[in-house]
Amino acid sequence: MREASSAHALSMPLDAVGEVLATFEGVSKSFPTPSGVLPAVQGVDLEIRRGEIITILGPSGCGKSTLLNMLAGVFAPSGGRVTYRGAPVTGLNRNTGYMTQNDHLLPWRTVAANIRAPLELKGWARSEAGRRVEALIATVGLTGFENSYPSQISGGMRKRTALARLLAQDPETLLLDEPFVALDAQLRLAMQSELRSLSRRFGKTVLFVTHDVDEAAGLGDRCIIFSKRPGRIRTIVDIGLPADRSLFHLRQDSRYARISAVLWDYMAKEADLGDGQQRGQP
Ligand SMILES: Nc1ncnc2c1ncn2[C@@H]1O[C@H](COP(=O)(O)OP(=O)(O)OP(=O)(O)O)[C@@H](O)[C@H]1O
Ligand SMILES: [Mg+2]
Repeated sequence: MREASSAHALSMPLDAVGEVLATFEGVSKSFPTPSGVLPAVQGVDLEIRRGEIITILGPSGCGKSTLLNMLAGVFAPSGGRVTYRGAPVTGLNRNTGYMTQNDHLLPWRTVAANIRAPLELKGWARSEAGRRVEALIATVGLTGFENSYPSQISGGMRKRTALARLLAQDPETLLLDEPFVALDAQLRLAMQSELRSLSRRFGKTVLFVTHDVDEAAGLGDRCIIFSKRPGRIRTIVDIGLPADRSLFHLRQDSRYARISAVLWDYMAKEADLGDGQQRGQP
């Protein structure tokens, strides 16, 4: 049995923050349809550095989930290439942990047993795994619901269970597809804060898809704004807020208001376009 010496056994020292971890190089992805080919993503060039939180905004159907799917290795690009630590991603990328838009909880397992699943796969001793699961349940605010089944909890609680399960897996890079969509405002802020602190403390790299512009500004170090489908990177905005910011006090910070306004402006311009059209820089 593997003994877990710390809660985050896979964590790495923060002094390595900054090296390029993943790249998209001229990436496109099309899907076959009964009437032809549907271009989902086109011409994506992107470098993702270790330890950064990248938020991703863009209209529905523009290819945000497709981008995560390619980094996770769920499917290959149609053109260009995706790399992770210098090697092309072929097959499932085990350095990433993926919280998809559907939570994929195991319905026959309780909340605690769902969260414990990755630790079982890693061969953690039962007592050690139990302590870790208990801590994660507290982190996501689900204490008291350990023995509930997924069908007995709310949508937001399911999301939090899925997040805790991902944290139990402890991947190097977290791919989160609209993870906090069903949460109330306070809980959402608490979860965002936990995620930033996790990334800061342990050098976790995070790709975070959201439709919430304020969330993208508050949480991210950089924000990618996608065009309408076929999704191209319209712009990448450096958020520029202090790395150790308190998300609970951002609303009083004029810099936050300014950067949110910049993102809103880009999103509003994007919404004015016809389906599939492209535009130049503003
Ligand atoms: N497996 C698939 N097979 C066929 N078409 C797909 C597949 N996955 C995505 N698509 C298509 O690719 C386009 C981009 O889809 P994607 O799910 O990446 O968008 P999205 O930006 O995540 O949208 P949303 O914000 O609504 O979640 C859509 O037109 C979608 O229909
Ligand atoms: Mg999606």
